[in-house]
Amino acid sequence: MKSIAILTSGGDAPGMNAAIRAVVRTALDKDLKVFGVNRGYSGLINGELFEMNRESVSDIIHRGGTILRTARCEEFKTEEGRKRAASVLKVFGIDGLVVIGGNGTFAGAQLLSKLGVKTIGLPGTIDNDLPYTDYTIGFDTALNTVLDAINKLRDTSSSHERVSIVEVMGRDCGDIALHAGVGGGAEFVILPEKGYNEEEICKNILQGKAKGKLHNLIIMAEGVGGTDELANKIEEVTGIETRATKLGHIQRGGSPSAFDRVLASRMGYNAVELLCQGKTSKVLGMRNGKIFDMDINEALEVPRSFDEELYTISKIISN
Ligand code: F6P
Repeated sequence: MKSIAILTSGGDAPGMNAAIRAVVRTALDKDLKVFGVNRGYSGLINGELFEMNRESVSDIIHRGGTILRTARCEEFKTEEGRKRAASVLKVFGIDGLVVIGGNGTFAGAQLLSKLGVKTIGLPGTIDNDLPYTDYTIGFDTALNTVLDAINKLRDTSSSHERVSIVEVMGRDCGDIALHAGVGGGAEFVILPEKGYNEEEICKNILQGKAKGKLHNLIIMAEGVGGTDELANKIEEVTGIETRATKLGHIQRGGSPSAFDRVLASRMGYNAVELLCQGKTSKVLGMRNGKIFDMDINEALEVPRSFDEELYTISKIISN
Protein backbone atom coordinates (compact mmCIF):
# COMPACT_ATOMS: atom_id res chain seq x y z
CA MET A 1 0.00 0.00 0.00
CA LYS A 2 1.61 3.23 -1.17
CA SER A 3 -1.22 5.60 -1.80
CA ILE A 4 -4.77 5.97 -0.46
CA ALA A 5 -7.75 8.26 -0.99
CA ILE A 6 -10.58 9.42 1.22
CA LEU A 7 -14.08 10.68 0.47
CA THR A 8 -17.28 11.55 2.29
CA SER A 9 -20.63 10.65 0.75
CA GLY A 10 -24.37 10.96 1.46
CA GLY A 11 -25.68 13.26 4.20
CA ASP A 12 -22.90 15.04 6.09
CA ALA A 13 -22.41 14.42 9.81
CA PRO A 14 -20.45 16.26 12.51
CA GLY A 15 -17.20 14.40 13.10
CA MET A 16 -16.52 13.64 9.45
CA ASN A 17 -13.70 16.20 9.52
CA ALA A 18 -12.18 14.59 12.60
CA ALA A 19 -12.23 11.26 10.73
CA ILE A 20 -10.62 12.79 7.63
CA ARG A 21 -7.92 14.31 9.84
CA ALA A 22 -7.20 10.98 11.51
CA VAL A 23 -6.99 9.14 8.19
CA VAL A 24 -4.66 11.73 6.67
CA ARG A 25 -2.36 11.99 9.68
CA THR A 26 -2.17 8.19 10.19
CA ALA A 27 -1.43 7.66 6.50
CA LEU A 28 1.33 10.29 6.54
CA ASP A 29 2.79 8.66 9.64
CA LYS A 30 3.07 5.46 7.60
CA ASP A 31 4.68 7.32 4.67
CA LEU A 32 1.66 6.82 2.45
CA LYS A 33 0.48 9.39 -0.05
CA VAL A 34 -3.08 10.57 0.69
CA PHE A 35 -5.55 12.05 -1.75
CA GLY A 36 -8.75 13.82 -0.83
CA VAL A 37 -11.70 13.31 -3.18
CA ASN A 38 -14.13 16.20 -3.38
CA ARG A 39 -17.91 15.61 -3.62
CA GLY A 40 -18.02 11.90 -2.82
CA TYR A 41 -18.40 9.30 -5.54
CA SER A 42 -19.42 11.94 -8.02
CA GLY A 43 -16.07 13.71 -7.55
CA LEU A 44 -14.30 10.37 -7.83
CA ILE A 45 -15.88 9.70 -11.22
CA ASN A 46 -14.94 13.21 -12.35
CA GLY A 47 -11.36 12.96 -11.07
CA GLU A 48 -11.71 15.68 -8.40
CA LEU A 49 -8.71 14.45 -6.40
CA PHE A 50 -5.96 16.43 -4.71
CA GLU A 51 -3.01 15.41 -2.61
CA MET A 52 -3.33 16.15 1.11
CA ASN A 53 -0.66 16.92 3.68
CA ARG A 54 -0.61 17.65 7.43
CA GLU A 55 -1.76 21.23 6.87
CA SER A 56 -4.72 20.14 4.71
CA VAL A 57 -6.33 18.87 7.91
CA SER A 58 -5.10 21.51 10.37
CA ASP A 59 -7.77 23.29 12.38
CA ILE A 60 -10.68 21.10 11.27
CA ILE A 61 -11.22 18.71 14.20
CA HIS A 62 -13.79 21.07 15.74
CA ARG A 63 -15.61 21.88 12.51
CA GLY A 64 -18.95 20.39 11.46
CA GLY A 65 -19.73 19.43 7.87
CA THR A 66 -17.00 17.94 5.70
CA ILE A 67 -14.09 19.81 4.11
CA LEU A 68 -14.27 17.28 1.26
CA ARG A 69 -17.89 18.17 0.63
CA THR A 70 -20.41 15.47 -0.11
CA ALA A 71 -22.94 14.40 -2.69
CA ARG A 72 -25.44 11.67 -3.48
CA CYS A 73 -24.42 10.19 -6.86
CA GLU A 74 -26.76 8.38 -9.25
CA GLU A 75 -24.02 7.65 -11.80
CA PHE A 76 -22.08 5.61 -9.27
CA LYS A 77 -25.05 3.25 -9.00
CA THR A 78 -24.32 2.12 -12.58
CA GLU A 79 -21.59 -0.37 -13.45
CA GLU A 80 -20.17 2.09 -15.96
CA GLY A 81 -19.93 4.83 -13.31
CA ARG A 82 -18.10 2.51 -10.92
CA LYS A 83 -15.69 1.39 -13.65
CA ARG A 84 -14.86 5.03 -14.33
CA ALA A 85 -14.27 5.61 -10.63
CA ALA A 86 -11.96 2.59 -10.41
CA SER A 87 -10.01 3.73 -13.47
CA VAL A 88 -9.56 7.23 -11.99
CA LEU A 89 -8.04 5.65 -8.88
CA LYS A 90 -5.74 3.57 -11.09
CA VAL A 91 -4.58 6.64 -13.02
CA PHE A 92 -3.69 8.35 -9.71
CA GLY A 93 -1.89 5.17 -8.55
CA ILE A 94 -4.22 4.79 -5.57
CA ASP A 95 -4.58 1.31 -4.04
CA GLY A 96 -6.90 1.96 -1.10
CA LEU A 97 -10.01 4.05 -0.51
CA VAL A 98 -11.61 5.12 2.78
CA VAL A 99 -15.26 6.17 2.52
CA ILE A 100 -17.28 7.86 5.24
CA GLY A 101 -21.07 7.72 5.04
CA GLY A 102 -24.10 5.54 5.54
CA ASN A 103 -25.74 2.51 3.92
CA GLY A 104 -25.55 3.76 0.34
CA THR A 105 -21.91 4.76 0.74
CA PHE A 106 -21.04 1.30 2.05
CA ALA A 107 -22.93 -0.49 -0.72
CA GLY A 108 -20.92 1.59 -3.23
CA ALA A 109 -17.63 0.70 -1.52
CA GLN A 110 -18.48 -2.97 -1.59
CA LEU A 111 -19.15 -2.90 -5.34
CA LEU A 112 -15.98 -0.90 -5.94
CA SER A 113 -13.93 -3.50 -4.07
CA LYS A 114 -15.06 -6.06 -6.66
CA LEU A 115 -13.22 -3.95 -9.24
CA GLY A 116 -9.95 -4.41 -7.35
CA VAL A 117 -9.96 -1.28 -5.15
CA LYS A 118 -9.27 -1.92 -1.47
CA THR A 119 -12.10 -0.19 0.41
CA ILE A 120 -12.79 0.57 4.07
CA GLY A 121 -16.00 2.25 5.30
CA LEU A 122 -16.50 4.46 8.35
CA PRO A 123 -20.09 4.96 9.59
CA GLY A 124 -20.90 8.66 9.28
CA THR A 125 -24.55 9.60 9.65
CA ILE A 126 -26.52 11.42 12.31
CA ASP A 127 -29.34 8.84 12.08
CA ASN A 128 -27.46 6.01 13.87
CA ASP A 129 -29.23 3.70 11.46
CA LEU A 130 -26.40 1.19 10.88
CA PRO A 131 -27.33 -1.64 13.26
CA TYR A 132 -23.95 -3.40 13.10
CA THR A 133 -22.42 -0.61 15.23
CA ASP A 134 -23.57 0.88 18.53
CA TYR A 135 -22.80 4.40 17.33
CA THR A 136 -22.28 6.21 14.05
CA ILE A 137 -20.15 9.35 13.75
CA GLY A 138 -22.42 12.39 14.15
CA PHE A 139 -25.25 10.85 16.15
CA ASP A 140 -24.09 12.15 19.52
CA THR A 141 -23.60 15.70 18.24
CA ALA A 142 -27.00 15.73 16.53
CA LEU A 143 -28.57 14.51 19.75
CA ASN A 144 -26.99 17.35 21.70
CA THR A 145 -28.20 19.84 19.09
CA VAL A 146 -31.72 18.48 19.50
CA LEU A 147 -31.49 18.69 23.29
CA ASP A 148 -30.39 22.31 23.07
CA ALA A 149 -33.41 23.10 20.89
CA ILE A 150 -35.74 21.20 23.22
CA ASN A 151 -34.48 23.16 26.23
CA LYS A 152 -35.37 26.38 24.42
CA LEU A 153 -38.76 25.11 23.37
CA ARG A 154 -39.46 24.07 26.95
CA ASP A 155 -39.06 27.69 28.11
CA THR A 156 -41.60 29.12 25.72
CA SER A 157 -43.87 26.10 25.85
CA SER A 158 -44.21 26.21 29.64
CA SER A 159 -44.66 30.02 29.65
CA HIS A 160 -47.62 29.61 27.30
CA GLU A 161 -48.79 26.30 28.80
CA ARG A 162 -48.72 24.75 25.38
CA VAL A 163 -47.99 21.42 23.80
CA SER A 164 -44.83 21.38 21.65
CA ILE A 165 -44.30 18.80 18.94
CA VAL A 166 -40.72 18.61 17.71
CA GLU A 167 -39.90 16.81 14.49
CA VAL A 168 -36.37 15.41 14.46
CA MET A 169 -34.42 13.67 11.68
CA GLY A 170 -34.41 9.93 11.23
CA ARG A 171 -36.01 8.57 8.09
CA ASP A 172 -36.49 4.94 9.10
CA CYS A 173 -34.73 4.92 12.43
CA GLY A 174 -36.11 6.52 15.58
CA ASP A 175 -32.81 6.65 17.51
CA ILE A 176 -32.52 10.46 17.51
CA ALA A 177 -36.15 10.81 18.63
CA LEU A 178 -35.92 8.12 21.31
CA HIS A 179 -32.64 9.29 22.83
CA ALA A 180 -33.62 12.97 22.61
CA GLY A 181 -36.99 12.11 24.18
CA VAL A 182 -35.34 10.44 27.16
CA GLY A 183 -32.55 13.01 27.49
CA GLY A 184 -34.92 15.94 26.99
CA GLY A 185 -37.62 14.70 29.33
CA ALA A 186 -40.32 14.48 26.66
CA GLU A 187 -43.80 13.30 27.57
CA PHE A 188 -44.12 11.27 24.35
CA VAL A 189 -41.81 9.91 21.67
CA ILE A 190 -43.22 8.90 18.31
CA LEU A 191 -41.01 6.57 16.30
CA PRO A 192 -41.13 4.84 12.91
CA GLU A 193 -40.55 1.52 14.74
CA LYS A 194 -43.69 1.96 16.86
CA GLY A 195 -47.19 3.13 16.14
CA TYR A 196 -48.94 5.84 18.10
CA ASN A 197 -52.43 6.48 19.19
CA GLU A 198 -53.80 10.03 18.96
CA GLU A 199 -56.59 9.38 21.45
CA GLU A 200 -54.19 8.02 24.05
CA ILE A 201 -51.86 11.01 23.63
CA CYS A 202 -54.78 13.46 24.04
CA LYS A 203 -56.05 11.57 27.10
CA ASN A 204 -52.60 11.66 28.73
CA ILE A 205 -52.23 15.37 27.99
CA LEU A 206 -55.54 16.09 29.72
CA GLN A 207 -54.61 13.90 32.70
CA GLY A 208 -51.28 15.76 32.92
CA LYS A 209 -53.07 19.09 32.89
CA ALA A 210 -55.30 17.93 35.74
CA LYS A 211 -52.13 17.03 37.70
CA GLY A 212 -50.75 20.55 37.11
CA LYS A 213 -48.38 19.94 34.18
CA LEU A 214 -47.44 23.24 32.57
CA HIS A 215 -46.64 21.89 29.14
CA ASN A 216 -46.13 18.75 27.08
CA LEU A 217 -43.27 17.88 24.81
CA ILE A 218 -43.69 15.38 21.99
CA ILE A 219 -40.66 14.25 19.97
CA MET A 220 -41.55 12.78 16.62
CA ALA A 221 -39.18 11.18 14.10
CA GLU A 222 -39.33 12.59 10.60
CA GLY A 223 -40.04 9.14 9.14
CA VAL A 224 -43.46 9.07 10.85
CA GLY A 225 -44.56 12.42 9.39
CA GLY A 226 -47.68 14.47 10.09
CA THR A 227 -46.58 16.82 12.90
CA ASP A 228 -48.97 19.61 11.78
CA GLU A 229 -51.91 17.21 11.55
CA LEU A 230 -51.16 15.87 15.02
CA ALA A 231 -50.90 19.42 16.40
CA ASN A 232 -54.34 20.27 14.96
CA LYS A 233 -55.86 17.10 16.37
CA ILE A 234 -54.44 17.73 19.87
CA GLU A 235 -55.76 21.32 19.88
CA GLU A 236 -59.15 20.14 18.70
CA VAL A 237 -59.49 17.36 21.29
CA THR A 238 -57.81 18.95 24.34
CA GLY A 239 -58.37 22.64 23.69
CA ILE A 240 -54.68 23.24 24.53
CA GLU A 241 -52.65 25.36 22.13
CA THR A 242 -50.18 23.19 20.25
CA ARG A 243 -47.23 24.15 18.05
CA ALA A 244 -45.14 21.97 15.76
CA THR A 245 -41.45 22.73 15.13
CA LYS A 246 -39.27 21.00 12.53
CA LEU A 247 -35.61 21.12 13.48
CA GLY A 248 -34.53 20.02 9.98
CA HIS A 249 -30.96 20.35 8.76
CA ILE A 250 -29.83 22.31 11.83
CA GLN A 251 -29.35 18.83 13.29
CA ARG A 252 -26.66 18.03 10.73
CA GLY A 253 -24.41 20.99 11.50
CA GLY A 254 -22.33 22.25 14.39
CA SER A 255 -19.06 21.49 16.10
CA PRO A 256 -18.77 17.75 16.83
CA SER A 257 -19.12 16.61 20.43
CA ALA A 258 -16.15 15.16 22.31
CA PHE A 259 -17.62 11.68 21.80
CA ASP A 260 -17.88 12.07 18.02
CA ARG A 261 -14.38 13.53 17.72
CA VAL A 262 -12.83 10.64 19.63
CA LEU A 263 -14.93 8.01 17.82
CA ALA A 264 -14.02 9.51 14.43
CA SER A 265 -10.32 9.68 15.34
CA ARG A 266 -10.25 6.06 16.50
CA MET A 267 -12.05 4.86 13.39
CA GLY A 268 -9.92 6.96 11.03
CA TYR A 269 -6.73 5.53 12.53
CA ASN A 270 -8.05 1.97 12.30
CA ALA A 271 -9.15 2.42 8.67
CA VAL A 272 -5.55 3.10 7.61
CA GLU A 273 -4.27 0.23 9.77
CA LEU A 274 -6.65 -2.16 7.97
CA LEU A 275 -5.58 -0.94 4.53
CA CYS A 276 -1.94 -1.43 5.49
CA GLN A 277 -2.78 -5.00 6.53
CA GLY A 278 -4.14 -5.54 3.01
CA LYS A 279 -7.78 -5.77 4.20
CA THR A 280 -10.61 -4.74 1.90
CA SER A 281 -14.40 -4.50 1.82
CA LYS A 282 -14.55 -3.86 5.58
CA VAL A 283 -16.38 -1.37 7.74
CA LEU A 284 -15.46 -0.15 11.18
CA GLY A 285 -17.85 -0.04 14.08
CA MET A 286 -17.92 0.34 17.84
CA ARG A 287 -19.44 -2.21 20.15
CA ASN A 288 -19.22 -2.08 23.94
CA GLY A 289 -16.66 0.70 23.65
CA LYS A 290 -14.31 -1.29 21.38
CA ILE A 291 -13.56 -0.53 17.73
CA PHE A 292 -13.96 -3.57 15.48
CA ASP A 293 -14.09 -4.35 11.78
CA MET A 294 -16.58 -6.40 9.82
CA ASP A 295 -17.23 -7.40 6.22
CA ILE A 296 -19.30 -4.74 4.44
CA ASN A 297 -21.83 -7.29 3.20
CA GLU A 298 -22.29 -8.80 6.64
CA ALA A 299 -22.61 -5.33 8.19
CA LEU A 300 -25.29 -4.31 5.71
CA GLU A 301 -27.26 -7.45 6.53
CA VAL A 302 -27.34 -7.01 10.30
CA PRO A 303 -31.06 -6.68 11.11
CA ARG A 304 -32.20 -3.47 12.73
CA SER A 305 -32.69 -3.87 16.45
CA PHE A 306 -34.84 -1.68 18.64
CA ASP A 307 -34.02 -0.61 22.17
CA GLU A 308 -37.25 -1.74 23.84
CA GLU A 309 -35.86 -1.00 27.30
CA LEU A 310 -35.11 2.63 26.45
CA TYR A 311 -38.59 2.96 24.93
CA THR A 312 -40.14 1.59 28.14
CA ILE A 313 -37.97 3.95 30.20
CA SER A 314 -39.13 6.88 28.06
CA LYS A 315 -42.74 6.02 28.85
CA ILE A 316 -42.33 5.32 32.54
CA ILE A 317 -40.28 8.34 33.50
CA SER A 318 -42.38 10.78 31.51
CA ASN A 319 -45.49 10.16 33.59
O1 F6P B 1 -29.46 10.31 6.44
C1 F6P B 1 -29.30 11.46 7.15
C2 F6P B 1 -30.45 12.42 6.93
O2 F6P B 1 -30.14 13.57 7.67
C3 F6P B 1 -31.82 11.89 7.29
O3 F6P B 1 -32.11 11.95 8.65
C4 F6P B 1 -32.72 12.79 6.48
O4 F6P B 1 -33.93 12.17 6.21
C5 F6P B 1 -31.92 12.98 5.22
O5 F6P B 1 -30.57 12.80 5.57
C6 F6P B 1 -32.11 14.33 4.57
O6 F6P B 1 -31.42 14.34 3.38
P1 F6P B 1 -31.15 15.65 2.51
O7 F6P B 1 -30.04 16.41 3.13
O8 F6P B 1 -30.79 15.11 1.18
O9 F6P B 1 -32.41 16.45 2.52
